[in-house]
Amino acid sequence: MQDSLDAAELQVRLEKCGLFRGLHLVSSTGSTNDLAAKLAREGAPEGLLVITDEQTSGRGRLGRRWEAEPGESLCFSLVLRPAFELPVWPRLTTWAAVAVAQALEELVDQPSSVKWPNDIYFADRKCVGILTETFIDQGRFAILGIGVNIAQTNFPEEIKDKACSLLQVCGKRVRRAEVVCAIMERLHNSYFLVENGFSEIVAEAETRSFLKGRTVQVETGGSTIRGVAHSLDANGGLIIMREDGGFERVNSGEVNLMQFSR
Ligand code: BTN
Repeated sequence: MQDSLDAAELQVRLEKCGLFRGLHLVSSTGSTNDLAAKLAREGAPEGLLVITDEQTSGRGRLGRRWEAEPGESLCFSLVLRPAFELPVWPRLTTWAAVAVAQALEELVDQPSSVKWPNDIYFADRKCVGILTETFIDQGRFAILGIGVNIAQTNFPEEIKDKACSLLQVCGKRVRRAEVVCAIMERLHNSYFLVENGFSEIVAEAETRSFLKGRTVQVETGGSTIRGVAHSLDANGGLIIMREDGGFERVNSGEVNLMQFSR
Protein backbone atom coordinates (compact mmCIF):
# COMPACT_ATOMS: atom_id res chain seq x y z
CA MET A 1 0.00 0.00 0.00
CA GLN A 2 1.27 3.44 -0.91
CA ASP A 3 2.01 5.76 2.03
CA SER A 4 3.13 9.00 0.48
CA LEU A 5 3.92 12.10 2.51
CA ASP A 6 1.73 14.80 1.05
CA ALA A 7 2.46 18.40 2.06
CA ALA A 8 -1.13 19.60 1.60
CA GLU A 9 -2.54 16.75 3.68
CA LEU A 10 0.04 17.19 6.44
CA GLN A 11 -0.51 20.94 6.52
CA VAL A 12 -4.27 20.59 6.93
CA ARG A 13 -4.01 17.90 9.58
CA LEU A 14 -1.25 19.61 11.55
CA GLU A 15 -2.87 23.03 11.58
CA LYS A 16 -5.16 21.71 14.31
CA CYS A 17 -2.11 21.20 16.55
CA GLY A 18 -1.15 24.26 18.61
CA LEU A 19 2.57 23.45 18.59
CA PHE A 20 2.78 23.28 14.79
CA ARG A 21 4.19 26.39 13.11
CA GLY A 22 5.15 25.31 9.61
CA LEU A 23 6.14 22.37 7.48
CA HIS A 24 9.37 21.69 5.67
CA LEU A 25 8.88 18.49 3.67
CA VAL A 26 11.73 17.14 1.56
CA SER A 27 11.93 13.90 -0.39
CA SER A 28 15.46 13.17 0.82
CA THR A 29 17.97 14.69 3.21
CA GLY A 30 21.02 13.63 5.20
CA SER A 31 19.43 14.05 8.62
CA THR A 32 16.25 15.91 9.51
CA ASN A 33 17.96 16.99 12.75
CA ASP A 34 20.75 18.65 10.78
CA LEU A 35 18.30 20.30 8.38
CA ALA A 36 16.08 21.51 11.23
CA ALA A 37 19.12 22.91 13.08
CA LYS A 38 20.20 24.76 9.93
CA LEU A 39 16.71 26.25 9.51
CA ALA A 40 16.60 27.16 13.21
CA ARG A 41 19.96 28.95 12.92
CA GLU A 42 18.40 30.88 10.03
CA GLY A 43 15.50 31.90 12.27
CA ALA A 44 12.88 29.13 11.93
CA PRO A 45 10.26 29.41 14.67
CA GLU A 46 9.43 26.94 17.40
CA GLY A 47 7.06 24.40 15.91
CA LEU A 48 8.69 24.10 12.49
CA LEU A 49 8.41 20.45 11.49
CA VAL A 50 11.01 18.99 9.14
CA ILE A 51 10.01 15.69 7.62
CA THR A 52 11.43 13.49 4.91
CA ASP A 53 10.78 10.31 3.03
CA GLU A 54 14.44 9.32 3.03
CA GLN A 55 17.39 10.03 5.33
CA THR A 56 20.76 9.24 3.86
CA SER A 57 22.81 9.79 7.02
CA GLY A 58 20.34 9.59 9.87
CA ARG A 59 21.94 9.94 13.28
CA GLY A 60 21.17 8.16 16.53
CA ARG A 61 22.29 8.80 20.09
CA LEU A 62 25.92 8.39 21.08
CA GLY A 63 27.17 8.93 17.55
CA ARG A 64 25.38 5.92 16.09
CA ARG A 65 23.74 5.73 12.68
CA TRP A 66 19.97 5.54 12.30
CA GLU A 67 19.12 3.38 9.30
CA ALA A 68 15.72 3.84 7.71
CA GLU A 69 14.49 2.46 4.40
CA PRO A 70 12.67 5.11 2.32
CA GLY A 71 8.92 4.92 2.83
CA GLU A 72 9.14 2.32 5.60
CA SER A 73 9.88 4.62 8.46
CA LEU A 74 8.89 8.03 9.70
CA CYS A 75 11.74 10.50 10.19
CA PHE A 76 11.04 13.99 11.41
CA SER A 77 12.46 16.76 13.57
CA LEU A 78 10.81 19.58 15.42
CA VAL A 79 12.36 22.97 16.21
CA LEU A 80 11.86 23.97 19.85
CA ARG A 81 12.65 27.31 21.43
CA PRO A 82 11.79 26.66 25.07
CA ALA A 83 11.13 29.81 27.10
CA PHE A 84 12.16 28.09 30.32
CA GLU A 85 15.54 28.25 32.06
CA LEU A 86 18.36 26.08 30.73
CA PRO A 87 18.49 23.70 33.73
CA VAL A 88 14.97 22.60 32.75
CA TRP A 89 15.92 21.70 29.16
CA PRO A 90 17.15 18.15 29.94
CA ARG A 91 13.53 17.32 30.82
CA LEU A 92 12.65 17.56 27.11
CA THR A 93 13.94 14.04 26.63
CA THR A 94 11.50 12.45 29.08
CA TRP A 95 8.65 14.68 27.92
CA ALA A 96 9.12 13.54 24.32
CA ALA A 97 9.47 9.87 25.24
CA VAL A 98 6.23 9.85 27.22
CA ALA A 99 4.32 11.75 24.53
CA VAL A 100 5.49 9.38 21.78
CA ALA A 101 4.77 6.27 23.89
CA GLN A 102 1.25 7.47 24.63
CA ALA A 103 0.53 8.47 21.04
CA LEU A 104 1.66 5.15 19.60
CA GLU A 105 -0.04 3.08 22.24
CA GLU A 106 -3.32 4.73 21.37
CA LEU A 107 -2.78 4.29 17.64
CA VAL A 108 -1.90 0.60 17.69
CA ASP A 109 -3.78 -0.41 20.84
CA GLN A 110 -0.77 -2.22 22.31
CA PRO A 111 1.14 -1.33 25.50
CA SER A 112 4.32 0.64 24.95
CA SER A 113 7.19 1.26 27.33
CA VAL A 114 10.05 3.73 27.63
CA LYS A 115 13.60 2.46 27.84
CA TRP A 116 15.48 5.25 29.56
CA PRO A 117 16.22 7.77 28.41
CA ASN A 118 13.97 7.78 25.38
CA ASP A 119 13.63 4.63 23.31
CA ILE A 120 10.09 3.39 22.83
CA TYR A 121 9.54 -0.34 23.07
CA PHE A 122 6.72 -2.72 22.32
CA ALA A 123 7.26 -5.88 24.36
CA ASP A 124 11.04 -6.31 24.27
CA ARG A 125 11.72 -4.61 20.94
CA LYS A 126 12.58 -1.04 20.07
CA CYS A 127 10.22 0.73 17.67
CA VAL A 128 11.22 4.39 18.07
CA GLY A 129 14.44 6.31 18.59
CA ILE A 130 14.53 9.90 19.77
CA LEU A 131 17.48 12.25 19.44
CA THR A 132 17.20 15.53 21.32
CA GLU A 133 19.94 18.05 20.60
CA THR A 134 20.35 21.45 22.21
CA PHE A 135 22.07 24.46 20.68
CA ILE A 136 22.75 27.13 23.24
CA ASP A 137 25.39 29.32 21.65
CA GLN A 138 23.93 29.22 18.15
CA GLY A 139 20.54 30.75 18.86
CA ARG A 140 19.30 28.88 21.94
CA PHE A 141 17.07 26.22 20.47
CA ALA A 142 16.57 22.47 20.67
CA ILE A 143 15.88 19.96 17.94
CA LEU A 144 13.69 16.99 18.73
CA GLY A 145 14.31 14.23 16.20
CA ILE A 146 12.05 11.20 16.08
CA GLY A 147 12.41 8.04 14.02
CA VAL A 148 9.52 5.56 14.04
CA ASN A 149 9.76 2.13 12.43
CA ILE A 150 6.53 2.01 10.46
CA ALA A 151 6.49 -0.96 8.12
CA GLN A 152 9.81 -2.81 8.17
CA THR A 153 9.64 -6.57 8.25
CA ASN A 154 13.37 -7.18 7.75
CA PHE A 155 15.89 -5.37 9.90
CA PRO A 156 19.69 -5.37 9.52
CA GLU A 157 21.36 -8.41 11.08
CA GLU A 158 22.72 -6.57 14.13
CA ILE A 159 19.29 -5.34 15.27
CA LYS A 160 16.96 -7.98 13.87
CA ASP A 161 16.22 -9.49 17.29
CA LYS A 162 15.86 -6.13 19.02
CA ALA A 163 13.78 -3.99 16.67
CA CYS A 164 10.17 -3.93 15.57
CA SER A 165 7.88 -1.85 13.39
CA LEU A 166 4.32 -0.71 13.98
CA LEU A 167 3.28 -3.08 11.21
CA GLN A 168 4.67 -5.99 13.21
CA VAL A 169 3.12 -4.73 16.42
CA CYS A 170 -0.44 -4.30 15.18
CA GLY A 171 -0.56 -6.28 11.94
CA LYS A 172 -1.43 -3.36 9.71
CA ARG A 173 0.35 -0.47 8.08
CA VAL A 174 -0.29 2.75 9.97
CA ARG A 175 0.04 5.82 7.76
CA ARG A 176 2.95 8.12 8.55
CA ALA A 177 0.72 11.22 8.42
CA GLU A 178 -1.44 9.71 11.13
CA VAL A 179 1.58 8.86 13.29
CA VAL A 180 3.24 12.26 13.07
CA CYS A 181 -0.04 14.06 13.81
CA ALA A 182 -0.77 11.86 16.83
CA ILE A 183 2.73 12.50 18.21
CA MET A 184 2.52 16.24 17.60
CA GLU A 185 -0.81 16.40 19.39
CA ARG A 186 0.57 14.62 22.46
CA LEU A 187 3.67 16.82 22.46
CA HIS A 188 1.51 19.91 22.33
CA ASN A 189 -0.83 18.79 25.10
CA SER A 190 1.97 18.15 27.60
CA TYR A 191 4.57 20.80 26.63
CA PHE A 192 3.49 23.12 29.47
CA LEU A 193 4.13 20.36 32.00
CA VAL A 194 7.86 20.39 31.26
CA GLU A 195 8.14 23.58 33.28
CA ASN A 196 5.06 23.41 35.48
CA GLY A 197 4.01 19.90 36.39
CA PHE A 198 6.94 17.76 35.35
CA SER A 199 6.27 15.31 38.21
CA GLU A 200 3.25 14.16 36.19
CA ILE A 201 5.51 13.28 33.26
CA VAL A 202 8.05 11.57 35.52
CA ALA A 203 5.27 9.49 37.09
CA GLU A 204 4.07 8.42 33.63
CA ALA A 205 7.64 7.59 32.55
CA GLU A 206 8.09 5.44 35.65
CA THR A 207 4.83 3.63 35.02
CA ARG A 208 6.00 2.89 31.50
CA SER A 209 9.59 2.11 32.46
CA PHE A 210 11.12 -0.77 30.55
CA LEU A 211 14.03 -0.90 33.00
CA LYS A 212 12.50 -0.48 36.45
CA GLY A 213 13.45 -3.39 38.70
CA ARG A 214 15.84 -4.87 36.16
CA THR A 215 19.55 -5.37 36.61
CA VAL A 216 21.40 -3.03 34.31
CA GLN A 217 24.83 -1.81 33.38
CA VAL A 218 25.13 1.86 32.52
CA GLU A 219 28.00 3.36 30.58
CA THR A 220 28.18 7.00 31.51
CA GLY A 221 30.94 9.55 31.11
CA GLY A 222 33.70 6.94 30.89
CA SER A 223 32.56 4.91 33.89
CA THR A 224 30.36 1.86 34.32
CA ILE A 225 27.65 1.52 36.93
CA ARG A 226 25.98 -1.80 37.70
CA GLY A 227 22.83 -2.21 39.73
CA VAL A 228 19.06 -2.29 39.62
CA ALA A 229 17.13 0.45 37.81
CA HIS A 230 15.26 1.95 40.75
CA SER A 231 13.40 5.11 39.77
CA LEU A 232 13.64 8.48 38.04
CA ASP A 233 14.63 11.72 39.73
CA ALA A 234 12.70 14.98 39.51
CA ASN A 235 14.33 15.88 36.18
CA GLY A 236 14.01 12.44 34.60
CA GLY A 237 17.51 11.20 35.47
CA LEU A 238 17.85 7.48 36.14
CA ILE A 239 18.49 6.32 39.71
CA ILE A 240 20.38 3.05 40.05
CA MET A 241 20.62 1.02 43.24
CA ARG A 242 24.09 -0.52 43.40
CA GLU A 243 24.74 -3.97 44.84
CA ASP A 244 26.05 -2.36 48.04
CA GLY A 245 22.71 -0.60 48.50
CA GLY A 246 23.96 2.87 47.54
CA PHE A 247 22.28 4.98 44.91
CA GLU A 248 23.73 6.57 41.78
CA ARG A 249 22.03 9.16 39.61
CA VAL A 250 22.67 9.07 35.86
CA ASN A 251 21.79 11.96 33.59
CA SER A 252 22.95 10.50 30.30
CA GLY A 253 24.41 7.28 29.07
CA GLU A 254 23.80 3.91 27.53
CA VAL A 255 21.91 1.28 29.52
CA ASN A 256 22.28 -2.42 28.84
CA LEU A 257 20.18 -5.09 30.48
CA MET A 258 22.20 -7.73 32.27
CA GLN A 259 21.21 -11.29 31.43
CA PHE A 260 18.96 -13.24 33.77
CA SER A 261 17.31 -10.15 35.19
CA ARG A 262 13.53 -10.05 35.31
C1 BTN B 1 18.48 6.61 18.74
O1 BTN B 1 17.72 5.66 18.93
O2 BTN B 1 19.69 6.54 18.96
C2 BTN B 1 17.88 7.91 18.23
C3 BTN B 1 17.49 7.81 16.79
C4 BTN B 1 16.87 9.10 16.28
C5 BTN B 1 16.54 9.01 14.80
C6 BTN B 1 15.81 10.22 14.32
S1 BTN B 1 15.17 10.02 12.69
C7 BTN B 1 14.80 11.70 12.59
C8 BTN B 1 15.93 12.45 13.25
N1 BTN B 1 17.02 12.68 12.32
C9 BTN B 1 18.13 12.04 12.66
O3 BTN B 1 19.21 12.09 12.03
N2 BTN B 1 17.93 11.35 13.77
C10 BTN B 1 16.59 11.51 14.28
